[in-house]
Amino acid sequence: MTQDELKKMVGDLAATYVKDGMVVGLGTGSTVKFMVDALGRRVAEEGLKIIGVPTSDRTAEQGRQLGIPIKSIDEVAQIDLTIDGADQIDTDFQGIKGGGAAHLFEKIVAINSKRNMWIVDQSKMAPQLGSFPLPLEVIPYGSQQLFKRLAANGLKPAFRENAGQRVLTDSKNYVIDLHLGKIDDVFQLARYLNQQVGIVEHGLFLNVVNTVIVGYADGPKVLDAPERPDYRAIKA
Ligand code: A5P
Repeated sequence: MTQDELKKMVGDLAATYVKDGMVVGLGTGSTVKFMVDALGRRVAEEGLKIIGVPTSDRTAEQGRQLGIPIKSIDEVAQIDLTIDGADQIDTDFQGIKGGGAAHLFEKIVAINSKRNMWIVDQSKMAPQLGSFPLPLEVIPYGSQQLFKRLAANGLKPAFRENAGQRVLTDSKNYVIDLHLGKIDDVFQLARYLNQQVGIVEHGLFLNVVNTVIVGYADGPKVLDAPERPDYRAIKA
């Protein structure tokens, strides 16, 4: 099976988890694109009634073209289920996202969702995170100073570029990728990154996912993550 066939397999399966009346967070990326296609088919053929909350301009456009009613995150009361891709998932169900420069909106939608499902082909599963570069969305103002600080800390930053131009997110921010190779303590690194002024959000998605569907050549596997503490319940 090709990688695209594996992505379509998990995308089609994930779309079957969506029920009538749900508000569904729609992730971003090539795997989610298959899932949104499948949802569009269900809306057209079965009359499935859902509202989609997209995590990027790309996904919003695809959803609209397929006739999926689209609302922004602040127009809905809650999100029942978000289905998104991931760039790397470790054996503790922690993930790296942002390879498509959409992790800021993806994280906002994820933490406002009752359940989160990730859909990936087998190449995304890893014993340890970090061989996929960790994306940071950063405010352009002062980003050169931030870059120097990250480099001085040995975090091997690189501004993401496309055809010689810095990549801009949907919020017109830059992306810095950290080429770490491996991350020994994801929680410690997340705490450090959370403290850096100018980083809007990093791509470590920790204790976020509930279910992962992995595409293997012999079929999809549905993996349930352990229940985690609800960080939304943390008091100020
Ligand atoms: C977008 O910024 C990412 O978080 C994507 O969800 C991730 O890169 C997965 O994309 P693919 O399905 O294209 O690999």
